[in-house]
Amino acid sequence: MNTEYHEPVLVSEVCEYLVTSHDGIYVDATTGGGGHTKAILETVSPGARIVCFDRDADAIGESKRKLQQWKSQLTFIHDVFGAMQDRLQQLSINKINGILFDLGVSSFQINNADRGFTYQQEAKLDMRMDMRSGITGVDVLQTYKERELADIFFHYGEERKARRIARKVVEERNKKPITTSTELAEIVRAIVGERHLVKSLARIFQALRIEINAELDQLSKALEQTTDLLHTGGRLVVISYHSLEDRIVKRFMKERSAKSKRSEDPFARQDIEIDPDFRIVTKKPVLPQPDEQRRNPRSRSAKLRAAERC
Ligand SMILES: C[S@@+](CC[C@H](N)C(=O)[O-])C[C@H]1O[C@@H](n2cnc3c(N)ncnc32)[C@H](O)[C@@H]1O
Repeated sequence: MNTEYHEPVLVSEVCEYLVTSHDGIYVDATTGGGGHTKAILETVSPGARIVCFDRDADAIGESKRKLQQWKSQLTFIHDVFGAMQDRLQQLSINKINGILFDLGVSSFQINNADRGFTYQQEAKLDMRMDMRSGITGVDVLQTYKERELADIFFHYGEERKARRIARKVVEERNKKPITTSTELAEIVRAIVGERHLVKSLARIFQALRIEINAELDQLSKALEQTTDLLHTGGRLVVISYHSLEDRIVKRFMKERSAKSKRSEDPFARQDIEIDPDFRIVTKKPVLPQPDEQRRNPRSRSAKLRAAERC
């Protein structure tokens, strides 16, 4: 197993886009191994405070340990970022200066075979980021209808052979429950063959992970909350790793920065002017420089978008 917990991506870009006030209150919605949190702490002054969320107990443990020297500036919350507004209110925090989302899974989660996130090692298909509750990959493969599985593989994995893979899953589970990554990989191999195997496995595992952790729903919920939470001039920074996430972020920022909207009156000749909630800061997504992409292959799919609360 990799000894590094997780190498953070676009670190200097995150600090540049996120920090507007050196003694403000920030939220790291996905603290993971604390890499970005540390960089933010090194950018702000000792008067700043950061509230760190993660739904994974290991991540909270690791970042607490790593960031020990800044502990008076930090609050850790082991919960989903979809519960952010309620959890911040419990801390009497109503407004913040910036929020970072570094979406998806950490290298630690991927590299830790017990968690079942990877098709590269034999493991029980757990795939929950928060292991305290919720359905596992084994549950999904065992209990979902063929149609539901096909929809997940197609919509969350963008896998073209979704229907055939779903049919094969049902065929195999009727003989014996599918419980490990290797068993699932064999099913995918039987449908897609050797040539497209790695790409299809990545898509199918991504699809299951998104379903199990309700990742897209969490993202939409949390983005909604940022409008209320951010001070005027406060920044929303999101790093996404696949097109489904990026589409949600892009659409949110576009809609909330629009200066006009269609009238509901079908006879109206003009759009209605509105006050936008956000101003887009990154006209195009910011991508890692080639040397970062070489150094950290995980960064190759990263896209950073930032918006400022108006
Ligand atoms: C890419 S890693 C973050 C790495 C981190 N920025 C660092 O520098 O180490 C994503 C983290 O977000 C967490 N996560 C994903 N979805 C979440 C959610 N809805 N609520 C809270 N944490 C979540 C995962 O458990 C994981 O630790």
